[in-house]
Amino acid sequence: MLVLPLTSLLLAATTVSAIQYDLAHNVTPIVGTWSSGSKHVVTGPGFANPAQQSFVYPKTTGVGYSFSADGWYEVARYRFASNASEPNCIIGTVVWVHGHYDLRDNGSIVMTPVGDGYQQVQAPCAATSNFIQNYNYTELMRSWQIFMDAKDGPKLHLFQFDGAPVAPLFQLSAEPNMLPKQVLRNVSANVVTVTSDGLVTTETQASRKRKRSAAPEMKRPIGMIAGLVVVAMVATASVL
Ligand SMILES: *[C@@H]1O[C@H](CO)[C@@H](O)[C@H](O)[C@H]1NC(C)=O
Ligand SMILES: *[C@@H]1O[C@H](CO)[C@@H](O)[C@H](O)[C@H]1NC(C)=O
Ligand SMILES: *[C@@H]1O[C@H](CO)[C@@H](O)[C@H](O)[C@H]1NC(C)=O
Ligand SMILES: *[C@@H]1O[C@H](CO)[C@@H](O)[C@H](O)[C@H]1NC(C)=O
Repeated sequence: MLVLPLTSLLLAATTVSAIQYDLAHNVTPIVGTWSSGSKHVVTGPGFANPAQQSFVYPKTTGVGYSFSADGWYEVARYRFASNASEPNCIIGTVVWVHGHYDLRDNGSIVMTPVGDGYQQVQAPCAATSNFIQNYNYTELMRSWQIFMDAKDGPKLHLFQFDGAPVAPLFQLSAEPNMLPKQVLRNVSANVVTVTSDGLVTTETQASRKRKRSAAPEMKRPIGMIAGLVVVAMVATASVL
C-alpha cells in the first residue's frame, strides 16, 4: 500500500476539481497530459495520424495518456516485447486509441473507445510480420492515484484490471494534448480475416492496402532494454 504524504493532503485540500477526486486518491485532477519514463510517447498530433493510419515513432518506448475535463481520453503506446521462446524475435507494437472515460465510484476508470483506434504490430518471426489493424479494446483501470513527486511533480499511477501497474506517468501539462474529440477514421469498410498467427481479426480496406505494400518498419530505439516486456503482455493486450 502506498502512503500519501501529509504535504499532499494539504495541497489536495486547496485544489478541488469538478472531476471526481478525493483526498485519499489524488493531489491533482487527472485532467491533463501524462507520459512515462523519458516522456517521449505523448498523445496528440505528434504521435498519430488516424486518417492515414500512420504513426510518428517516438525516440524511446513508453506510454502516454491524456484525459480531458469533458470525459475524453487518448492513449499512445509504443513498445517492444521479447518473444519468450525466441528471444531474437522482438515484437514491436504501436497503438493509438481514444474515446470516453468514466471515473467510477469504486475507484476504477473505464475507458471505452469510439472505434477509430489502430495499432501496428511488427512480429518478425510470425507469418504476417508487419501490419496495421483496428484496435478497439475497452480498458479497465482497477484503481489510480496521483502523488506529488518532489522532483517530477504530479505522478499518476494506473493499475490495470489485473492490478498490474502501468509505468508511472509524469504530468507534461495540466491541459490534455489530444487529437480532435470525434471519430477520426472511417472503419465501416471492415473486412474480417484471421491470419495464421491469430492476431488479426478485423482490418480496414486501408490497412489491407497498406499491408500489401508492407507497413513502415519500426526501428528498436537504442538503449531500450528497460522498455522490454515479456511477450505475454502483448498477448494480453490483444485479447482485452
Ligand atoms: C469497479 O467498477 C468497474 C466498472 O463498473 C467494474 O468493472 C469493476 O469490477 C469494479 N471493481 C471492483 C473492485 O469492484
Ligand atoms: C468499439 O468498442 C466500443 C465499446 O465496446 C463499441 O461500443 C463500439 O461499437 C466499437 N466500435 C467498433 C467500430 O468496433
Ligand atoms: C514467437 O516465437 C515462436 C517460435 O519461433 C513463433 O512460432 C511465434 O510465432 C513467435 N510469436 C510471435 C508473436 O512472433
Ligand atoms: C465509410 O466507408 C464506406 C465504405 O467505403 C462508405 O460507404 C461510407 O460512405 C463512408 N463513410 C464516411 C462517413 O465517409
